[in-house]
Amino acid sequence: MPVYRTSSEEETIALGEHLARQLPRKQVVLLIGQLGAGKTTLAKGIVTGLGAATPDEVSSPTFTLIHEYGSEGRVYHVDLYRLDEPRELATLGLEDLFDREAVVLVEWGERFRQLLPPERTEICIGMTTGEEREIKVQRIGRGSATEMCVTEPRP
Ligand SMILES: Nc1ncnc2c1ncn2[C@@H]1O[C@H](COP(=O)(O)OP(=O)(O)OP(=O)(O)O)[C@@H](O)[C@H]1O
Ligand SMILES: [Mg+2]
Repeated sequence: MPVYRTSSEEETIALGEHLARQLPRKQVVLLIGQLGAGKTTLAKGIVTGLGAATPDEVSSPTFTLIHEYGSEGRVYHVDLYRLDEPRELATLGLEDLFDREAVVLVEWGERFRQLLPPERTEICIGMTTGEEREIKVQRIGRGSATEMCVTEPRP
């Protein structure tokens, strides 16, 4: 499992651009980490690396729940922080997004793992001190362990 370390917001964006090049065109990517860990920051880099927007154009979908980037809808950025129940997911139409040939970045999605595609990428962002972040990337497949990182309960 690749483990990266960054020590600034800019480095995390640059890492996201690097990781974007390794992603399949169709992939669900869970971004896991506590409040302020850098999930949206990493998403800025991934969206940029996929050529769908610039970092400044990527904002947190906390209230809108889903943002779409790229002329062909190649990247979706979803934030499930505000959802409480799995049945609320059905109203979002996420399954339709998962079926598309697109990268779907999901913050706070680890609480709904049973509703996610079994084949996906999970990226865990751990906060240590100051601006240091430890970022682990794991490709999850059918039947493999999915508990890759210790996830904090949503505050
Ligand atoms: N190494 C780093 N990588 C990313 N962000 C960093 C880093 N060091 C400091 N920061 C700061 O941490 C914050 C990360 O915010 P961001 O919105 O990306 O977090 P988040 O995980 O999406 O939070 P939320 O759960 O609220 O959506 C920013 O204010 C950023 O400037
Ligand atoms: Mg965020």
